[in-house]
Amino acid sequence: MKKLLFSLLLAFPLMATAGSIKSPNGNIELKFSLDGDGRPVYEMTYKGKAVVKPSHLGLELAKDKHASKGMDETDLMNGFSIVKEEKSTFDETWKPVWGETATIRNNYKELVATLSQKASGRQILIRFRVYDDGIGFRYEFPQQKELNYFLIKEERSEFAMAGDHTAWWLPGDYDTQEQETQETKLSEIRGRMKEAVNWSNSSVAVFSETGVQTSLQMKSADGLYINIHEAACADYATMHLELVDAQTKTLTTKLGGGSNAYTPNPKPSPWPVPQAFTFVSHLTPDATGLKGAMQTPCETPWRTVMVSDDARDMLASNLILNLNEPCKLEDTSWIHPTKYCGVWWEMIVGRGSWHYTNDYPSIKLDQIDWSKVKPNGTHKANNENVKRYIDFAAKNGLDQVLVEGWNVGWEDWANMWKRDVFDFVTPYPDFDIKMLNEYAHSKGVKILMHHETSSSTQNYERHLEDAFTLMNKYGYDAVKTGYVGDIIPRGDHHYSQSMNNHYLHVVKEAAKHHIMVNAHEATRPTGLCRTYPNLVGNESARGTEYEAFGGSRPDHTCILPFTRLQGGPMDYTPGIFVTKLSQWSDNTSWARITIAGSLALYLTMYSPLQMAADLPENYEKFDDAFQFIRDVACDWDDSRYLEAEPADYITVARKAKGTDNWFVGGKCDENGHTAVVKLDFLEKGRKYDCTIYADANDAHYDTNPQAYTITKKVVKAGQTLKIKEAPGGGFAISIIAK
Ligand code: NOJ
Ligand code: CA
Repeated sequence: MKKLLFSLLLAFPLMATAGSIKSPNGNIELKFSLDGDGRPVYEMTYKGKAVVKPSHLGLELAKDKHASKGMDETDLMNGFSIVKEEKSTFDETWKPVWGETATIRNNYKELVATLSQKASGRQILIRFRVYDDGIGFRYEFPQQKELNYFLIKEERSEFAMAGDHTAWWLPGDYDTQEQETQETKLSEIRGRMKEAVNWSNSSVAVFSETGVQTSLQMKSADGLYINIHEAACADYATMHLELVDAQTKTLTTKLGGGSNAYTPNPKPSPWPVPQAFTFVSHLTPDATGLKGAMQTPCETPWRTVMVSDDARDMLASNLILNLNEPCKLEDTSWIHPTKYCGVWWEMIVGRGSWHYTNDYPSIKLDQIDWSKVKPNGTHKANNENVKRYIDFAAKNGLDQVLVEGWNVGWEDWANMWKRDVFDFVTPYPDFDIKMLNEYAHSKGVKILMHHETSSSTQNYERHLEDAFTLMNKYGYDAVKTGYVGDIIPRGDHHYSQSMNNHYLHVVKEAAKHHIMVNAHEATRPTGLCRTYPNLVGNESARGTEYEAFGGSRPDHTCILPFTRLQGGPMDYTPGIFVTKLSQWSDNTSWARITIAGSLALYLTMYSPLQMAADLPENYEKFDDAFQFIRDVACDWDDSRYLEAEPADYITVARKAKGTDNWFVGGKCDENGHTAVVKLDFLEKGRKYDCTIYADANDAHYDTNPQAYTITKKVVKAGQTLKIKEAPGGGFAISIIAK
């Protein structure tokens, strides 16, 4: 005990002035102070329970050759005094362009501390916002004589957890979020890491034995749900978290590329860390190894901690969106929710190819006459096949058809360090871009553009204007971009400041052309879709494609809404009906889900962009179940999370935009679940036609995935539906007002 007291005193020598604010409902309290070394400290409680124990804030700066010209390198860690503290209240309701609800209330108490560092004469601000469902804080750097330009070596924001919580985590990685989620106690992260990074992907850079990604969902032994993430990450590197080991108090850092390079390299933390289970922020470096180049006035993204004793609040929270800037686009009339199918799954599964010819070992775009090239016969973006998908979309009321492999360059597209990999404007000879777009438009359908960049970002930026002009010419209004492989030019990472600037640049340029963006492999979202609502989707996690690469666990989709979806919608590409891929291809992988479970994902995985990913011929075999995909909305006036537990089950009811119709979806893990759906959200006295798509009694994600029942009845407010979900299954309901 004495030892503990002594080390606490060392970590927080003497608390100086302290400010405190409470959330509007009083449940969350935030305290801010400086310790005896002038190091900023904050702590957070929920209904009197510790959520974040006293934790330091600060930034380490890097030396630079331009130091003599005013590039300051004194760390922004300690030696501060409080110049002033200002408190205020904010309450407004805003309307998202698309979303889970028609309006969103943004109501918080704010505390802004202005700090002055004696040694350097510099001032910085730390701004805290306290909501009923969590807090956000960020560092702000006003322009001043003493602080104009600086380089960030590391941000050191601490999050000291109050216990050995259960955590749902991904290994910290500078390049990918496509791993399977791990579920362990915090103390078990180090022991699990080696297994967690034992997978393959074309771009991997794990950095620590105890490094994890955000959004990080946790649950405490006494039932608190806690989530750490960030909001409004723009012109700044993506943040990871590194858990400081309880015994050794060391950070263990390694830089690596690939799952085999696992060589822990323990290194002491340069700054004292107060207590066990403390996460410290760890930013993604750029090609130089540094974490950020800043020019004042500027600020960091918001660091967020959400908390509740009810898991449903984690899913209903708008904290991340609220911490982002309001919409910056004046005209948003061209942005719309989109349901689409695509020339995609058959290539992912391996029954067709993106590339057009097998006859060349490599391709130089400026040295090839495509009209003379021998076709391989497996190229799927051909006129006939694309028309088949357009017909399917038109017949079933789908808005768009994604076509991948339409443009030249796929012969050697990935992992070759090839800069000039695509030009994004030249179609293969068997893809008649004019004819196909006219054909689609004549049937009320649009083609969804695809720009795989192969992470050759300079190349993409050089071609961007021409690529978007081509889209405008032929009437495309949405693009799926992709960043497969290591970043070119070499050395940079997918989640660095420079790459985050690239993704946002593409979104802003797209907006000028009235183009919606869905970026795959880009950094995971942080709510920037509020400011730029043409960012309608991202992948940035393990999507349905992995069902063709060995499969994902049945609980995967019961975790993603708690983690990846906190920052914005995911293009998960759901809707696989023929789950055993060997039934129609040579691929022996299989999707761990039932058909009713697949339908549920259109509700539980909120997105304004929803794919029906399976093949038209597979849907035709189950047309009565496909009716739900035809009917379901993808933009909502209201959403009610009815049941939720991370990695176990999620049940949500949503009211379709501009209608009185409701849709309900429930998805569960490998253990099954019985959902209790109280219809108290329906209008009293009104009758509704209800269609329930449920797992059959003997359904199972492995042994009997295609067994479902469809039941129709008339329902009204006050009734309760009990629906059995099979292992790896779920259900979907449409409730149409009479
Ligand atoms: C990975 C994307 O996630 C996938 O959807 C796409 O088909 C391939 N890259 C090729 O661009
Ligand atoms: Ca991907």
